[in-house]
Amino acid sequence: MKKAITMMLITAMATTLLAGCSSKTTAPVASTDTKKVSIGCTIYKFDDTFMTGVRNAISAAATEAKSSVEIVDSQNSSATQNDKIDLFITKKVNALEINPVDSAAAGAIVTKAQAAKIPVVFFNRMPAAADMAKWDKLYYVGAKPEQSGIMQGKILAEYWKAHPEADKNKDGVMDYVMLTGEPGHPDAIARTKSSIEEIVKEGIKVNVIASDTGMWDRVKAQDKLQSILAANGDKIEAVLANNDDMALGAISALQAKGYFKGDKFMPVVGVDATAPGIAALADGTLLGTVLNDAKNQGIATFKISQLLAEGKVPTTENVGYTLTDSKYVWIDYKPITKANMADAK
Ligand code: GAL
Repeated sequence: MKKAITMMLITAMATTLLAGCSSKTTAPVASTDTKKVSIGCTIYKFDDTFMTGVRNAISAAATEAKSSVEIVDSQNSSATQNDKIDLFITKKVNALEINPVDSAAAGAIVTKAQAAKIPVVFFNRMPAAADMAKWDKLYYVGAKPEQSGIMQGKILAEYWKAHPEADKNKDGVMDYVMLTGEPGHPDAIARTKSSIEEIVKEGIKVNVIASDTGMWDRVKAQDKLQSILAANGDKIEAVLANNDDMALGAISALQAKGYFKGDKFMPVVGVDATAPGIAALADGTLLGTVLNDAKNQGIATFKISQLLAEGKVPTTENVGYTLTDSKYVWIDYKPITKANMADAK
């Protein structure tokens, strides 16, 4: 009897838990009438932590919808990406998902795809508005990068105001280092600009000690900060990085100089909220980051391309995400610190 009651309780609890999970699903992925179509996807390079998250989300969404997407690595070369797209066109795929190596090359990609009548969903790196206007079968999924810069700036400004000791030379000015992503990348440009504008808007004076590109890369950023630290000693009071990988590289360079031991601290902020980024928030080395929602970007990219491949017109209703101007899906960023890091998992 006791055993039977226990079993009933377990079943009831499991049902409640499952119901709780499914109610959280905002965007339905599986569609009952999913047709067998083929979709070709090119990622600018596989060796990129954040884009690996987006790639995995696309694969998972395709698997859940019992569809398939062929995902290839463009190895950060526009020429390679072009060849891969040509191959997809020869194979007569029904839709393309393209994470451009270079936004400026998007115009040529559009011309090709339009000639072959294959709709395109661009994602992560936005083509120019003029290129997006060339055909009505072009879509874009991404996030507004200035939003992430503003959030980074707010996290740093809040810390600065709450910690007067952060102003080491007591001159009332935040002396900072900026580690930027690839030169010309819209996210790198917007984050670099809007983060600092936000700090200034919060009434804090700033001075840039150095600004250099770490190309979104952890090791490159570590090397860059190592040299900057060697040249500037203790003058640096904050480090902003356009993404978490570079923030983590900066933290390694700082650790080699004795930071994050005792009360020797440096506020470092990143963007993406990748798994290693969250681990650094947990251990207290990374001050803050911003969730760049790889999962929802991947799901939205897949959903739109699947509908296009089936010859349907994507709408806010059938995609499950707001379609702005009938072609853009904007996924919101979210500020993440140690206090709310569970939100990013
Ligand atoms: C950004 C992301 C970077 C990098 C880049 C690649 O949105 O924050 O970490 O992945 O995209 O285009």
